Amino acid sequence: MPYERHNIARMTGYTPGEQPDGVDVVKLNTNENPYPPSRVVMETLRTIDGDKLRRYPNPTARPFREAAAELHGVSPQQIIATNGGDELLRLVITTFVEPGRPVGTVEPSYSLYPVLAAIHDTPTLEVLLDDEWAPPAPEALAQTWNDAGAQLAFIVNPHAPSGRLMNTDELAAVAQAFNGVLVVDEAYIDFVDPAFAHDTVPLADRFDNVLLLRTMSKGYSLAGLRFGYGIASAGLVEPMQTKTKDSYNTDAISQALATAALEGQSKASRTWAAVRDERKRVTAELITLGLSVAPSQSNFVLATVPDSFGGGAGAVYESLKARNILVRYFDADRLRDKLRITIGTPEENTALLKTLRDLL
Ligand SMILES: Cc1ncc(COP(=O)(O)O)c(C=O)c1O
Repeated sequence: MPYERHNIARMTGYTPGEQPDGVDVVKLNTNENPYPPSRVVMETLRTIDGDKLRRYPNPTARPFREAAAELHGVSPQQIIATNGGDELLRLVITTFVEPGRPVGTVEPSYSLYPVLAAIHDTPTLEVLLDDEWAPPAPEALAQTWNDAGAQLAFIVNPHAPSGRLMNTDELAAVAQAFNGVLVVDEAYIDFVDPAFAHDTVPLADRFDNVLLLRTMSKGYSLAGLRFGYGIASAGLVEPMQTKTKDSYNTDAISQALATAALEGQSKASRTWAAVRDERKRVTAELITLGLSVAPSQSNFVLATVPDSFGGGAGAVYESLKARNILVRYFDADRLRDKLRITIGTPEENTALLKTLRDLL
């Protein structure tokens, strides 16, 4: 006899990207930073003593929140620390959505959103992006969500899986017109070209319904740590901080390391620049090979593979895998002819490009 709730029995879980055990894999499938964490993070790890583990951690990761608040020019009350950005996504649904009321998203988007909504027994309302991965005009997008009674909506920006960037004026217009909480999932924001001067933090001050999601997983090379945070008005943070999050949702080691990572930001920012340089090179070379590539402000690119190229995207994915190169293939509408390729080190990218050339 199944003991699950009906909605859990009905739903399908999230499929994470492959995480192979072997080290001989060129791993370009889950958008990790190809460079190691900063030295200050590793030094902090070495100095953690047993007493820190004997005791419970700070329940709200206060030292981390203070460091993040200083970095972003907001107050610590505007920061919530979570066990990866994924925990924050779950928390916002738990806190702001009545079960049964829809969660707004765009399609395609991060495939965890509908899974988390299904766990909450709530539908998702997916607004289709156009062929350039752009949403409808901000007011129209918000209106669609409002008409359906959505209390919460997700916009991933830069967009995943394409890397397209929505500017802050567009985001502000959505926030202004939307009646619910707008979560701007900025998992990949560190890789945006500084030439855009893309700064969304003022939105969290200006609008009481905007929550920005950040993660240490990508920009800070700490996907294994599981640490993320949100930036929002104090009023939006408060119910999550005091009521809906687990009492000790982030552990003592991850708090210490995430705080050190913010202090070592200059090293991390050099990895962002290196990824941007390689993004430019990989994009240009993929286009030379005959693939089309959506302009990306993220640490991955979405490449369309013509059927004439190695049998199409699915076949190329398998051929690369057979040669120990992992990229991401989504067997989903509008993505079946595409590969999402994480930007790796120059050597990893060169290995990928050479193998693709061989497959031609
Ligand atoms: C769009 C997006 N949002 C959020 C996350 C959450 O990342 P994490 O839980 O590692 O912080 C990811 C991870 O891949 C992502 O792709």
